[in-house]
Amino acid sequence: MQKSWVITIDGPAGSGKSTVAQMLAARLGAVFLDTGAMYRAVTAAAMERGADLDDAQSLQEVMETTEFHFEHKGPLLRALVDGRDFTDRIRDPEVTEKVRHVAGQPLLRERLVQMQRDFAARFPKVVAEGRDQGTVVFPQAQWKFFLEADVAERARRRQKDLAAAGRQITQKELESQILSRDNSDRHRQVGPLAAAADAIHIDSTSISAQQVVEKMLQIIHGEKHGGN
Ligand code: DC
Repeated sequence: MQKSWVITIDGPAGSGKSTVAQMLAARLGAVFLDTGAMYRAVTAAAMERGADLDDAQSLQEVMETTEFHFEHKGPLLRALVDGRDFTDRIRDPEVTEKVRHVAGQPLLRERLVQMQRDFAARFPKVVAEGRDQGTVVFPQAQWKFFLEADVAERARRRQKDLAAAGRQITQKELESQILSRDNSDRHRQVGPLAAAADAIHIDSTSISAQQVVEKMLQIIHGEKHGGN
């Protein structure tokens, strides 16, 4: 492997990207870049301000008048908004529900893409996770992965995470939330959820995060070429 590189992992909500990206970064001594955390931080800041999330101008104003800072902290990306720690708050279901407003704004995306590149430039080895990392943000990445899983399995994983956080929500409702998020992620005009032409697809429906990571490591170390 070269001394400095970027690995991208894209895929839909609930495909296991974050877990896999964190584990892969730890195995390779790399920094994990959670780009969803950036979209979430802008959303949480806009909500706190009471900005009109449907209004591009209003969101733009939040972006311009708020200081966003992202720090690499262990396996997490720490999100600071005007110096305050928003790392937990950005995971609130209300933020998850509203984040598509920010994700759909081309000018905001431009700023966040720049922040992602600036962040990555500070570290020699980066595992970047999101929706457009292999297509838009790091088209020259050394390895690109696209992680998928069927919707029932993604809802089941999400239900488990939520139950651990004391929230009960039905499988059916979660499936419908996931499908609606997929729909807005895949169909937005800029930076849609998409696999790069040279991405390696991995389906995680019936394998563990650990097994996905092992597959990726085999590919990275040249023992296996693509596919499942
Ligand atoms: O991965 P996540 O659930 O934390 O991402 C939250 C939202 O942010 C997701 O619904 C779409 C958006 N997002 C994006 O548009 N582009 C990225 N690179 C990462 C996330």
